Amino acid sequence: MRVILCGFGAVGQSLAKIFESRREDLYARYGLKPRIVGVFDSGGGAAEPSGLDMVKLVATKKERGSVAHYPGGAPGSRAGDEMISSLDADVLVETTPSNYDDAEPGMSHITGAVKRGMHVVSANKGPLALALPSLTELAAYNGVMLRFSGTVGGGTPILDYAKNSLRGEIITSFRGILNGTTNYILTAMAGGSSYAGALEDARGKGYVEADESLDLDGLDAAAKLVILANWVMGMKITLPDVDREGIRRVGAREVKRAAAGGRAVKLMASCGGDGRKLAVGPAEVPQDDPVCVNGTLNAVSFTSAHSGTQTVIGKGAGGTETASSILRDLLDIRMGMSRG
Ligand code: HSE
Repeated sequence: MRVILCGFGAVGQSLAKIFESRREDLYARYGLKPRIVGVFDSGGGAAEPSGLDMVKLVATKKERGSVAHYPGGAPGSRAGDEMISSLDADVLVETTPSNYDDAEPGMSHITGAVKRGMHVVSANKGPLALALPSLTELAAYNGVMLRFSGTVGGGTPILDYAKNSLRGEIITSFRGILNGTTNYILTAMAGGSSYAGALEDARGKGYVEADESLDLDGLDAAAKLVILANWVMGMKITLPDVDREGIRRVGAREVKRAAAGGRAVKLMASCGGDGRKLAVGPAEVPQDDPVCVNGTLNAVSFTSAHSGTQTVIGKGAGGTETASSILRDLLDIRMGMSRG
């Protein structure tokens, strides 16, 4: 399987390491032989139709800051677009940062690849949050698969659980904690920290996105809610359809009062009820509710017509974790390809 990798940050590098360390295992167990034929980051790109050396690639990035310094690589901001329009590959893996203004550059990477007949795996939430219904249509029109397991829950198979494990069910609603950073801050506040202190602590641990607003104003959680609602509930919605509030107005007193009553203030994302309302905002949740997880954990409770409510809990971020979900998607595509 020939792969073009867009972006070579924590997720891209983790994926390359998994490909390398599990080379024999992936082939023996799944018949999967991934080859990264092209990779680019903001500094430029490197391509090799027979497959790049993944150890050398990771070392180049670490030592020189960009894959453009890989032997034969080329600097320049157009490297990615040129690669996508000319290099032959089976799958494009998109891991550049999420952007909720115009979803670029991820959007152009994905549409360019789909139009050339490549399957796509995206860990980038921007294009999906802003245009999932039209991207799904574009992929279907071009006869390719579009997968995005890593966009919700990092390595925790939340999308998979709802789509595949609950097949045959009618999911009537779901609600959950979809952003690890704000959950970490709210958990620290419940333990006595101030909002400013908890935020500083989260920054120090590297949890907060470079653009803090994505976490603090609920954009990241709303993007994940949009992806879930489209994929799981068959809705055709985008980011502006979500009623959204972040955690900036949550005060220490409110958190303490909730705790005294056996409840916790959480940034909840929910879909369901009258008119299938979609909302992200702070809400009080009973501490003994399975969805009420602490720290950076994510959790989603799905309520279905026949089997009641079930909750999926796990780490919602991380390079290796998200790379593991990309691998799941690649195996899905591999199976689809062999079925023709
Ligand atoms: N900023 C996100 C979070 C990272 O805190 O959950 C994963 O999307």
